[in-house]
This record gives sequence, C-alpha cells and structure tokens, in this order.
Amino acid sequence: MATTAWHPRPASWWERHMVPRLIGCACAQPQIMKARSRIVPQASGDVLELGCGGGINMAFFDPTKITSFSGVDPSPALLERSREAAQAIGLEADIRGGVGEALPFADASFDTVLITFTLCSVDDQAQVLSEMRRVLRPGGKALFLEHGGAPDASVQKWQRRIEPIWKRIGGGCHLTREITGAYEKAGFKIARADKGYMPKSPRPFSWIEWGEARV
Ligand SMILES: C[S@@+](CC[C@H](N)C(=O)[O-])C[C@H]1O[C@@H](n2cnc3c(N)ncnc32)[C@H](O)[C@@H]1O
Repeated sequence: MATTAWHPRPASWWERHMVPRLIGCACAQPQIMKARSRIVPQASGDVLELGCGGGINMAFFDPTKITSFSGVDPSPALLERSREAAQAIGLEADIRGGVGEALPFADASFDTVLITFTLCSVDDQAQVLSEMRRVLRPGGKALFLEHGGAPDASVQKWQRRIEPIWKRIGGGCHLTREITGAYEKAGFKIARADKGYMPKSPRPFSWIEWGEARV
C-alpha cells in the first residue's frame, strides 16, 4: 500500500468551478463517447478506475463482468460527480480522494485498472504507471484511452505551442505526452493497441491511443 498520506491541495476558483465544466463538456463529445464504448466495457473482475473524476465512464461499464469497483481522483468536485454517476447505475463503489502517484490500495488488489484521459494530467506519468503495475494482480490488465502527442511534425509543432496555455486552462492537461510507448517503457506488455485522429476535432487535441496493456 502506498504509505504517503495524500491531502488535497487547495484548488483555485477556476479548478473548482470551471475545470469540472470543461471536462464535462470536452470529454463527453460524441467521438470521445464512441472511443469510450470501445474500451470501458472490457473492464472485468475487481476494477479500479484511476482518475475517475466526473464519472463519464460509468455509463459504459458492463456490471455483469464487474466483481467490485473502486475509483480514485484528486478533485473533490469531480469525485462528487463520480459518486453520483455510480449511484445512478446502482454500482456499489469505493471512490476515494487520492492521486495515481500514490494509490491508496494494497499490492495486487485489482484485475483491471481503467484509465481514460488522465495520463495527460498527472504530475508524474512514470510513477503512476509504476503504481498501476503494483496494484494489478499478475496477469491483470490496464485498459487505456488517452489523447497525446501526435505522430505528424506539423501537428506536434502546434501541440508544443498550445500546451503551456492549455495546461493552465485544462487542469494540468498536456498535449504532447507519449501514450502506448510509455506503457512499454514502464514494463507493461501491450496486448492490443490502436490509434488515430478523432474526426471533427482540431488535430492538436484529437490524437488518441487506446488499448490493453498486461502486467
Ligand atoms: C480530463 S479529466 C478525465 C476524467 C475521466 N477519466 C474521463 O475520462 O472523463 C482528467 C482527470 O484526471 C484527474 N487527475 C489529475 N491529476 C491526477 C493524478 N495525479 N492522479 C489521478 N488523477 C488525476 C483529474 O482530477 C480529472 O478527473
């Protein structure tokens, strides 16, 4: 179990009021919901959703495959929405305040860690991936869906230009981060992976990668 006690840091007015609205809006676009529908229903067994804030994924879980559901997120405002979303679908959920860098769960507790549009926002991507490995059981799976660094130089140029401002508006969201490659570097085995630009979205924001990585 991660031993470092986690305390929510004081959030600014923007983080408390505007970031949850932005996430609710940007992360529920039809093309994003379609991408979620490809990955979230594969969660099975004892499931942890890392960065569960907002609860948008709740609608896509297949409850018949889930033995237990836990969630973790540092944003009190978004946590409240997740708890409401879990209640709305009748899912008994253990949803805790915390960060992916120090997960408040014992080693080898989960069969699935689901993480969507969150690796872009964490402080320390490598530490989060290491924690995901720690809490997964041998043979367990990480299901991921993230936006990040595009392969095309012209798009990358814009991502680098926009990122410093976007990070401040979007709750620390980065545009240039590596996705599937970061799992490989962290020692995961990629069982399935896919990638592409989402249609009808500005390219610096629309490169996504999704798949399953195994411990
Ligand atoms: C863009 S939102 C995505 C929310 C949700 N996963 C989804 O797909 O709609 C990013 C989420 O990451 C959470 N987050 C930010 N830093 C985090 C960290 N260090 N550990 C875990 N979650 C974090 C935010 O509070 C927020 O809920």
